[in-house]
Amino acid sequence: MTTTPKRVLSGVQPSGKLHLGNYFGAIRQHIALQEEMQCFYFIADYHALTTLEEATRRRIDREKIKPADRAETLRENTFDVALDYLALGLDPDKAVFFRQSDVPEVAELAWIFSTVTNMGLLERAVSYKEKVEKGIDASVGLFFYPVLMAADILIYRSHLVPVGKDQVQHIEMTQDIAGKFNRTYGDIFPIPEYRLDKEPKVPGIDGQKMSKSYNNTIDIFAEGKALQKTVMSIVTDSTPVEAPKDPERCNVFALYSLFATEEEKAALAARYRAGGLGYGEAKKMLLEKINAYFGPFRERRKQLAAHPDQVETLLQRGAQRARAEARKTMALVRQAVGMKAASMG
Ligand code: ADP
Ligand code: TRP
Repeated sequence: MTTTPKRVLSGVQPSGKLHLGNYFGAIRQHIALQEEMQCFYFIADYHALTTLEEATRRRIDREKIKPADRAETLRENTFDVALDYLALGLDPDKAVFFRQSDVPEVAELAWIFSTVTNMGLLERAVSYKEKVEKGIDASVGLFFYPVLMAADILIYRSHLVPVGKDQVQHIEMTQDIAGKFNRTYGDIFPIPEYRLDKEPKVPGIDGQKMSKSYNNTIDIFAEGKALQKTVMSIVTDSTPVEAPKDPERCNVFALYSLFATEEEKAALAARYRAGGLGYGEAKKMLLEKINAYFGPFRERRKQLAAHPDQVETLLQRGAQRARAEARKTMALVRQAVGMKAASMG
């Protein structure tokens, strides 16, 4: 008996620079999964349109934004995520890696799903409410976001969706939509499960959770003086150098622990407790760890960035594989709802 291998899928929004929280909380696990299962990873550029204005304002002074700047922001952010993932070890021969908008069938499926999705379901979406509270325009697209996400997941008939806690409600909505579609038109979709990323809750330089919204990040691809400045500005208490310190209450130690072996952690913890170690020295040790860990990734990213056409070719190849799957699903869906299995053209 042959069993179909489980298919993993996840999407990343191209919304700016990635930081250590993203890496240790999500990306590292996603990349590791490519060794175990069939993975589909995509850059969610259709989704990013819902917050493109904010992303553009992060790059350009509000007064100076021209229409072309928005398109440029999306293109640049999308390319950046592609570089980041490829540099960090995503292997396009193992995982199917592509840009969401290169498979436009997903927008068609989202429309069909919208007709089996209750308003009430979407009205309960916490993420929509939070975004509107933060000042993001309440567009229909922002409200519709979870339906497009259901289409992302189901068009590839994925089983497992690794995500952070904030996305769980969206996956539950996907389960709802898949169930409703299956009951209405016949069994086409597997009901996907989420898998929570093991979030170590990486602290930012101010001790709150690291997040681009808090301006407290250490970016994965920062280097040189800029990185040094960020690490040196990590907030610590004012215990003098000679005094013993509690490693468990120190942001520098928490960040160091992400990179260190158990022995290295124990050794540094012992020095904290013994006194005589200043926070400045601990920060230098952390900086060295960051450089040693991400150094090779930075080099790889620079090489990739120098060959944008090769990156584009990889994305196109991924899109072809993804699109072939999407078209198979759409043929079933169109038939099931009473349309011609393939659209014209
Ligand atoms: P941000 O808070 O910077 O906007 P995102 O919400 O885009 O980050 O995060 C993408 C994923 O990265 C999350 O779903 C989560 O799994 C992970 N992540 C983000 N910040 C952290 C953090 N400080 N600690 C652990 N994981 C994090
Ligand atoms: N909404 C997700 C986020 O902000 C990104 C995303 C879009 C996604 N479509 C998806 C994640 C499908 C998993 C599956 O992080």
